Amino acid sequence: MRMDWSNRNWKNIACLVIAITMISPVSRAQSAAPDGSPAAELFKNNCAVCHGENGAGSVLGKRLLTPDLRSKVIHQKAPSALAKTISTGKKNMPSFDGKLSSAEIEKLVEYVRQFHH
Ligand code: HEC
Repeated sequence: MRMDWSNRNWKNIACLVIAITMISPVSRAQSAAPDGSPAAELFKNNCAVCHGENGAGSVLGKRLLTPDLRSKVIHQKAPSALAKTISTGKKNMPSFDGKLSSAEIEKLVEYVRQFHH
């Protein structure tokens, strides 16, 4: 009799484990790419509000004296200098340190450098 009880108990535990596995947010973990979002998406979500989707600068951005990211002036700067501005901020440009990983900032620098007129 005692054996029966403990056997059923183990079955209950097994059911519980399966249930927890099914409701755990595995799908959420799978939806993120292993190396984070693509640069275009990062730019759209974090930068386009000021820089515009094509880098030219939005209405708000122009009021904040946002430079045209398609310009020669920007393209002549060292990638490390652009990365530093994105990470630490500069005048009206907010800092993204802590919000974006250094790998994401690197991707954004590459993305910004491919903008052109
Ligand atoms: C709130 C508006 C705003 C947002 C959001 C913003 N920027 Fe800027 N950005 C600016 C302004 C203003 C400047 C000009 C800073 C200055 O005075 O030199 C600037 C400058 C830059 C520069 C030129 C850097 C340099 O060294 O001259 C780059 C590159 C840049 N931003 C990229 C980005 C990226 C990438 C993002 C998103 C992660 C972003 N910005 C988000 C306003 C913004």
